[in-house]
Amino acid sequence: MTTTSELPRVGVIGAGVMGSGIAQVLALAGCETVCFDISKEALDEAGQAVRGGRYGLDRSVELGKTSRDDADAALARLHFSDDIAEACAAEVIVECVPERLDLKIQTFRDLDRRAPEGAILASNTSGFSIAGLAASTDRPERVVGWHWASPPVISAFAEIVRTKQTDESTVVAVRDLAARCGKNPVVINDTAMHWGFVANRVYSAMIREAARCVDEGIASHAEVDQLMVDCFRWPVGPFGMTKGATTGWKK
Ligand SMILES: NC(=O)c1ccc[n+]([C@@H]2O[C@H](COP(=O)([O-])OP(=O)(O)OC[C@H]3O[C@@H](n4cnc5c(N)ncnc54)[C@H](O)[C@@H]3O)[C@@H](O)[C@H]2O)c1
Repeated sequence: MTTTSELPRVGVIGAGVMGSGIAQVLALAGCETVCFDISKEALDEAGQAVRGGRYGLDRSVELGKTSRDDADAALARLHFSDDIAEACAAEVIVECVPERLDLKIQTFRDLDRRAPEGAILASNTSGFSIAGLAASTDRPERVVGWHWASPPVISAFAEIVRTKQTDESTVVAVRDLAARCGKNPVVINDTAMHWGFVANRVYSAMIREAARCVDEGIASHAEVDQLMVDCFRWPVGPFGMTKGATTGWKK
């Protein structure tokens, strides 16, 4: 895969479990990508994960999923930076800071101030109202949810969340970019009343019931996980899913 001029420059804000993987995917898809974090340690770890981590590019080459040339080209396109201005010099910015509403709002205000006019601001929030984040900017028509799943390199999940104010061109640009990243984008409507759009609302209902089985003494965490894996051929049970999602599925 080579860089093509029609692909946007992308900024990724937050280089943690999600941001580092998302930046890797976007760079491999052909986007010039800058991944910003306030923590130098997080930036170092992200760089190591992208190169030599369990889902990193070296491993992908070893497994024959990516050619060495494509991996090297992706590494050349991906820069980690502690300067937010570098990440904001982009047409699409994907916000991946921790799931705290005050932080998300503050980050969106800042991105709106710094990003070029017309740049798309996408949030990887697991469930905060996208309309709420859009309201903290002067460009609600360019704000959209782009919810990824962990690990971003592997998962085909792309929940694209539009608000009543999101412009159709914004939705199309992000949906097409997600497809270009090899994902299966599904465009859904924002929810003002609930946390979690579709995937996490359904997942939360399932995890509540799984926890109830443990609380009632019916089964242990490990037994619940095993039963669900065997019964539904899930790759991992509900508790294993929670652990993996928060740790980045590191072995
Ligand atoms: N982990 C998952 O499975 C998963 C899946 C889908 C969506 N999400 C969502 O993705 C977002 C990020 O989650 P994560 O698991 O990657 O968290 P994480 O804690 O691994 O990473 C967050 C990173 O953001 C950095 N950060 C904090 N404040 C910042 C700021 N002001 N500017 C820039 N960087 C900042 C932190 O230093 C950290 O490196 C959250 O909204 C989360 O709900 C997570």
